[in-house]
Amino acid sequence: MSRVLYVYAKGGTALEHAFPRIAAHAELHVLALMPLPTAAADHWRPHCASITEATVPPGAASGDTVTDEIVRVAKEIGADAVLTLSEFAVLAVAHAADRLGLRGAGPAAAERARDKRLMREVWAAAGVPVPAFRRVGSEAELRTALTELTPPVLLKAAWSAGSIAQLVLRSPDDAATAWPQVAQALDKGREIRMSELYETGADRALIVEEIIEGSAADWYGSDSGKSSSGSEVGDEGAGGGHGDYGDYVSVEGIVAGGVHHALCVTARMPPIPPFNEVASTAPCVLSEARQRQIEEVAGRAVDALGLDTCGTHTELKLRADGGIAVIETAARFGGVMITRMVEEVFGLDPISLLVRELLGEEVAYPSRMPVSGRGAAASLVAAPADAVGTPWRTRPAWRPRQVEWDGIVTPGTAVEPVAAFDLPPDHPIPDYDPAAGAANWLGVLFVTAADAPTLLKDCTAVLGGLEEALNRVAPVEPGDRRRG
Ligand SMILES: Nc1ncnc2c1ncn2[C@@H]1O[C@H](COP(=O)(O)OP(=O)(O)O)[C@@H](O)[C@H]1O
Ligand SMILES: [Mg+2]
Repeated sequence: MSRVLYVYAKGGTALEHAFPRIAAHAELHVLALMPLPTAAADHWRPHCASITEATVPPGAASGDTVTDEIVRVAKEIGADAVLTLSEFAVLAVAHAADRLGLRGAGPAAAERARDKRLMREVWAAAGVPVPAFRRVGSEAELRTALTELTPPVLLKAAWSAGSIAQLVLRSPDDAATAWPQVAQALDKGREIRMSELYETGADRALIVEEIIEGSAADWYGSDSGKSSSGSEVGDEGAGGGHGDYGDYVSVEGIVAGGVHHALCVTARMPPIPPFNEVASTAPCVLSEARQRQIEEVAGRAVDALGLDTCGTHTELKLRADGGIAVIETAARFGGVMITRMVEEVFGLDPISLLVRELLGEEVAYPSRMPVSGRGAAASLVAAPADAVGTPWRTRPAWRPRQVEWDGIVTPGTAVEPVAAFDLPPDHPIPDYDPAAGAANWLGVLFVTAADAPTLLKDCTAVLGGLEEALNRVAPVEPGDRRRG
């Protein structure tokens, strides 16, 4: 039987979802670059033929140290493929695969898909629509960039993910406060082990770019946030809160030997300001013509990066003028439970497809990207703030398994907390911090519904009612360490 080395780092989908799918095609060996989660271990551990804890000390990770370790373990187990689902390990794994002569994204292409500065430069040169941007290496450069770009602009850490270390700036005077704030947000990312593992200069690399104005109303129609029965599901305008679709989408795909296969478009609910992402939903209810337009632009973006073999997740902003701007492409699948959404709704399991592709098997892809599916599914991120970013007033414990969802969602809709994303036991509920992205997460809920309108309505109700619902859960008895 073939052997796959799975390189674990934080980020990516739940192991209890990924591991059975990998193990269905190959003997699964795991190299953990950081401590493995304990959540749902009974479900994922039995799929592992071996688990190696990395000898790379935390924080000492630097380029070749991590890649050396992946290469060493891959040789030891005789791996036929190496794979990661974590953004932070993508580059290290691409280098390792290259050194081992195995299929992968390719080191140079993986870097173009990781470093947001390089990505923008490659796309601008290839004519892929992107916002105006500047590399910024110092506070002074940031100040200059702010005089050249049209505000508001978004300052981003170039190697970050999960919306960590992103700040909206409006004038050159914002540079002085923003610079240390980004450093603080990156520290928070590091604390939760969500930071780049290969590139050593990652923290000093920043990019600032113009904010692309999107318009969900222009794409979905102004009634995009109404349920099928016509009742109101949100009281804010399109793109203005939990109750509508957001003004951006993503395309999930696979590059196989340099050829991009789009698997589907996934829609979004509006982020919590400024850009903390809360929900991915499938299927996307846009017309086929619109979805094909999205597919085409995503394909051009992926092609320009020159990736060889890997999962892809491309985010695109839907502009009011009917145009599309590309936000980013990752050389791995979308995180949270996006791969499960694709499987449930479109009957395509991205993880199995990629594993088989990496092993050199003959893989059949849909002749065209499907634009409609069966039922509807969403990944919802719980964060302690409402739709407009007002922090919760209370601090209920994260015990989603004790919530009575029946009173909140439509009969037939299922809400399933995903153990892998639960805040660790005894971890205090974080103070909501708009710049902290995924460091705000309490957990992730996987929601399935009969159709897309019901899903949107129910996801809106879950997010809007979560604080109160958690507060209704009976308090934990002293000494009771059980998770909700
Ligand atoms: N230039 C931009 N204009 C408008 N929205 C943006 C822009 N850049 C990012 N965003 C929003 O912020 C989110 C996070 O940004 P992104 O670059 O994708 O970082 P991350 O790697 O953390 O996901 C995006 O999904 C998008 O909604
Ligand atoms: Mg993104």
